[in-house]
Amino acid sequence: MADIHCIGIATGGGDAPGLNAVIRAATKAAILQHGWKVIGIPDGFDGLIWPEKSFELTLERVSGILPRGGTILGTTNRGNPFRYKSEEHGHELDISDQVIANAKNLGIDAIITIGGDGSQKIGYELFKKGMKIVGVPKTIDNDLSATELTFGFDTALHTVSDAIDKIHTTASSHHRVMVVEVMGRDCGWIALAGGIAGGAHVILIPEIPFSIHNVCHHITEREKQGKDFTIIVVAEGIHLPPELKENRRASTVGNLIGNAIAHKSKKEVRISVLGHIQRGGTPSPFDRVLATRFGTAAVELIARGHFGKMVALKSSAIVAVDVADAIGKLKAVRPDGELVRTARAVGIGFGDATASAAAGH
Ligand code: F6P
Repeated sequence: MADIHCIGIATGGGDAPGLNAVIRAATKAAILQHGWKVIGIPDGFDGLIWPEKSFELTLERVSGILPRGGTILGTTNRGNPFRYKSEEHGHELDISDQVIANAKNLGIDAIITIGGDGSQKIGYELFKKGMKIVGVPKTIDNDLSATELTFGFDTALHTVSDAIDKIHTTASSHHRVMVVEVMGRDCGWIALAGGIAGGAHVILIPEIPFSIHNVCHHITEREKQGKDFTIIVVAEGIHLPPELKENRRASTVGNLIGNAIAHKSKKEVRISVLGHIQRGGTPSPFDRVLATRFGTAAVELIARGHFGKMVALKSSAIVAVDVADAIGKLKAVRPDGELVRTARAVGIGFGDATASAAAGH
């Protein structure tokens, strides 16, 4: 057992529904099971640059936060103590020693870093310098290779499928092509799972090359079957066909794809970019449970002195993996994987040649 009296908790990177559930679970387990003091570190590692902003997380402080989206600690996706952008010096500084000293001065023995790949990388660098770190993975994108699922993903899918359900009724009334752009960064998990859940007809993801010609062909094939509307889910990270590439900076990919389809098919097209509503709102029950399991498991790792580890979900069980093995590896959608095959089996197209053939059935 490790000699621990006080732990810190920090949330870094983009927020995700379920962060507060992890903070609550870890705080409760630390206090109730171990009698430790818990300190909330505001705004990721920025909170250790200005340690006076840190505050104690008590049972009262975490009471009622389980269903709340966002993070009561605040977060940032810019605060890297190894590359701190100093306005005073005009260049990047490594202030990691100061951050470690500030944590010690606060009496913090170990830190739980709740974050995505970027935050886990920073945590690992601090671990290599002697800080006792345990990671909790987080992202709505579900793109971390070390864990089968991250909390926030399920809630984002609820938002996406709810949006597609609503778009469905207006699409069918007006006989339109509707393009829905979703998040996911460089991976297509939100688009793929959200599209299947919402009954989309075409899903465009970064992992499967597509052409506007094939997408329009899919629309035409649907029309031949008497289906006079089409819903197309577009992942924000798709690789645009060459003819659209140069406009990428000027517009969202959803708009570019929607306009290209309108131009080629002469159909009436409308575009919805779901944006940050996918990151907000109350976490789903699944995400609350996963976040609570991750939070308590992180406390147990600290109690056992297992540092430099990250909690993860494998075969439905909570396990510990080395943070070193968890970072820098994205979990992309496999184009020949079961979920893509499932989508194809129900006639969903991916804008590739296979999809066009499927649309004809
Ligand atoms: O990683 C989560 C995520 O929401 C991505 O899906 C998206 O690309 C990105 O963060 C948006 O980041 P920001 O909030 O900084 O615009």
